Amino acid sequence: MQSAHSRAPGRVELLGNHTDYNAGVILSAAINYAVTAAGERIDEPVVRLTSAAYPQTISVPLAGLARQTGAASWTNYPLGVVDCLQKEGFTLGGMQLRFASDLPEGAGLSSSAALEVATACLLKKLFALDLADPMHLAKICRRAENEFAGVSCGLLDQVSSVFGKAGHAIFLDCRSEEVSNLPLPAAAALLVFQSGVPHRLAGGEYNERREQCFAAATALGVSALREISGPQLAATRAKLDSTVFRRAAHVVGENERVFAGIKCLQAGDVAGFGALMFASHESSRTNFENSTPELDTLVELARAIPGVFGSRLTGGGFGGATISLVEKNRAPEIAARLSADYTAASGHRGAPYICTSADGAA
Ligand code: GLA
Repeated sequence: MQSAHSRAPGRVELLGNHTDYNAGVILSAAINYAVTAAGERIDEPVVRLTSAAYPQTISVPLAGLARQTGAASWTNYPLGVVDCLQKEGFTLGGMQLRFASDLPEGAGLSSSAALEVATACLLKKLFALDLADPMHLAKICRRAENEFAGVSCGLLDQVSSVFGKAGHAIFLDCRSEEVSNLPLPAAAALLVFQSGVPHRLAGGEYNERREQCFAAATALGVSALREISGPQLAATRAKLDSTVFRRAAHVVGENERVFAGIKCLQAGDVAGFGALMFASHESSRTNFENSTPELDTLVELARAIPGVFGSRLTGGGFGGATISLVEKNRAPEIAARLSADYTAASGHRGAPYICTSADGAA
């Protein structure tokens, strides 16, 4: 194909925070904000990249893909995908790719994964790549983020961008790599609220939390925290340093909340699901310490607004956004009140996004 285009959505994590790299379980949803890409094959053996958001065109030789810095850093996500595809033995040629996005950056909605998945879907078409297995495509994108962009994330973001289904949540089991879709309550909307304090995944905190989780698993004699139940963890409290114990308690609790959340979705129990979201945030705040004062304020303000079922931070944390499950027909009114209350309480100007769950990349 001489030219092609693609689209890959961002995601919200509904329950299952920091469980992916612990071989755990997650409930997420792809959302109606996305990265779009268009591209052509060119004769010159280079990757030429432009974005509606950045003025500069970046051109990198296909044979020597180098990591970019400064204003060009955004290109590390598409370049990483090109690099990983080549490392996996796929043959590519020169290309010119253009990107546009309505996904806010730094909000914890996985704009980087959407960029990777949009690139992979585009290159699949442009170079007729044998990438029929969507999990393979998601894993190549994760590898790009780990090895090229240098962020040690798990599979959540890329899988969510690939496996979304309108009106549905995504269940991902990171151990078996099973993925399925569960209907979301029709009467509920997803309200994302950007705190105005950007989240920085490249920061050391994410990797530090990973190490603490691995240390907990090692101390408990298991290969991953997934293997530990709540009662088992409680019984081994004395074995662990108190910080490491709290990190483990968050991950173990999140896995349990995901399984409880599935039951709520199956029973149409929106209030029950919302209560799990509040509990998840509380565990982030006290156990995992990946919240911020602004995210805590947003969750507490949301709790006081009629029509809000549940609210929590979404994604890595340390800034970014909250996700609230709210009554659909009151969503605009709830978003307006949360905006006003948040500015009054914190002095920050946040940004609400009323989202619907969307189909995955195409
Ligand atoms: C970020 C990472 C994901 C996951 C979440 C926390 O979004 O990219 O892999 O670890 O944080 O659940």
